[in-house]
Amino acid sequence: MSLLRGKRLGRMDSEAAAFTASVDRDRPLLEAVIAINAAHLVSLAKNGVVDPKDAASILSSLRSAPTDLEFDTSLEDVHMNVEQYVSKKAGEAGGFLNLGKSRNDQVCTALRIVTRSELLKVVDAILELVESLIDVAAENTEVRMPGYTHLQVAQPTTVAHHLLNYAGALLRDVQRLADCYKRVNLSPMGSAAFSGTTVPVDRDGVARLLGFDGIIENSMDAVSSRDFILEFLSGALLTQLDLSRMAEDLIFYSSQEASYVDQPDDLSSTSSIMPQKKNAVVLEIIRAKAGTILGLFTYAATIVKGLPQSYNLDLQEMNSYVWMASSDLIKSLKLMSKVVRKTKYRKDRLERGAASGFSVAAELAEYLTLKHNIPFRKAHHIVGAVASNLPSIYTFEDIKKMLVKEAKNQGVRLDLSKLPSSYDPSTSVRSKKSLGSPNPLHVKLMMNHMRKEMKDAAGWARQRALSIDRASSVLAKESNNIIKEVRK
Ligand code: ARG
Repeated sequence: MSLLRGKRLGRMDSEAAAFTASVDRDRPLLEAVIAINAAHLVSLAKNGVVDPKDAASILSSLRSAPTDLEFDTSLEDVHMNVEQYVSKKAGEAGGFLNLGKSRNDQVCTALRIVTRSELLKVVDAILELVESLIDVAAENTEVRMPGYTHLQVAQPTTVAHHLLNYAGALLRDVQRLADCYKRVNLSPMGSAAFSGTTVPVDRDGVARLLGFDGIIENSMDAVSSRDFILEFLSGALLTQLDLSRMAEDLIFYSSQEASYVDQPDDLSSTSSIMPQKKNAVVLEIIRAKAGTILGLFTYAATIVKGLPQSYNLDLQEMNSYVWMASSDLIKSLKLMSKVVRKTKYRKDRLERGAASGFSVAAELAEYLTLKHNIPFRKAHHIVGAVASNLPSIYTFEDIKKMLVKEAKNQGVRLDLSKLPSSYDPSTSVRSKKSLGSPNPLHVKLMMNHMRKEMKDAAGWARQRALSIDRASSVLAKESNNIIKEVRK
């Protein structure tokens, strides 16, 4: 007799069964499902709901379940597979396994356990990339490069300042994920199908045994909600979007036209017809994965849109998006970290690029205002007129002469004898006064702040992982105690 269908329903149409089953995607949930069953049974036994003997035989069969437990694909999902395994091992006693719980509370509990551990892995991988960015930035605080707006050379910056701009965004991604963790790490167990159970389950105790910080109180909310998945996916998406912009910048910088960087050979590919090609394929796939993760988020949001309360099998469809997204994201982060460490910055090209396109124009306009008290808009017009008349080859002395002439055209007498005879990207960068600018002094401050934030976040992630480990040792100990007690 079928474990689930019992005497209620006959055999299911095999195509319908395969179509509605999740067993082929459930493997990542197995470990969590075993732990949940164990915590539930420990708690029932401790509270005298299930006879210690029965509890002990269930717990020892759960303990013996191999991590690569072979799934019977004729059963719907991981939950039924674990129950069948226990029933086979523990005999009649196995029948108590599902007392006071349902697959509805069990599946979202398992998903929360998997989501929190994927989230911590993502945070670690982001921090590894942040560290790479800061390390490479530290070696390049003085290397000037062109900064762009509208993909037109705008103002000089430095390689360090540029790299740290990504680090800043990634640290906010960490903050977002850490905040999301608070809402992920809550237990639905004890909600059963949706309206709780007449079995006196200890929801808080089970939550603690599973390393949760608390419970989702309303039992209908607990089994229906998947906002924790959407929130995690959106955190993953925002991170991958940051990576996609970074990838795009580096792809452009490695183009023949820019030639600012050399991509490492071992992270590049070539063409099957054009032997000279070196393509930044890792970066291209990282850029594309933002589309994949946006897709997963969109699928998930569309599945929950307008879904009636409480549990519906529609929800099963989005379970695997958690690990699909985190797997792509973690690989992207780790590879991006390699790219950052191995990319060669071509100083000559970068410095030349930094000086191109009259990139110090804004600073000159500011100079006219600050030193000559010319209203900024007027100064902007004077320098703008110089920009439009600039020959293709010029020296800074030429610019000075043109500035005086243009100022005169616009009714301003200008004495530029105090303006240094060269004003270049290096002067520009060093003369920046505003905090957070490419000025190497600011960049060093920024690096210190970021290193501190990175360390704090790594400490937080370590603490969270430790508290999960601690809970799982307590669970193993309590379960062993029950087994030992019976064997005495
Ligand atoms: N496989 C299901 C899922 O992943 C488990 C819950 C099934 N519940 C039900 N009432 N059919 O969501």
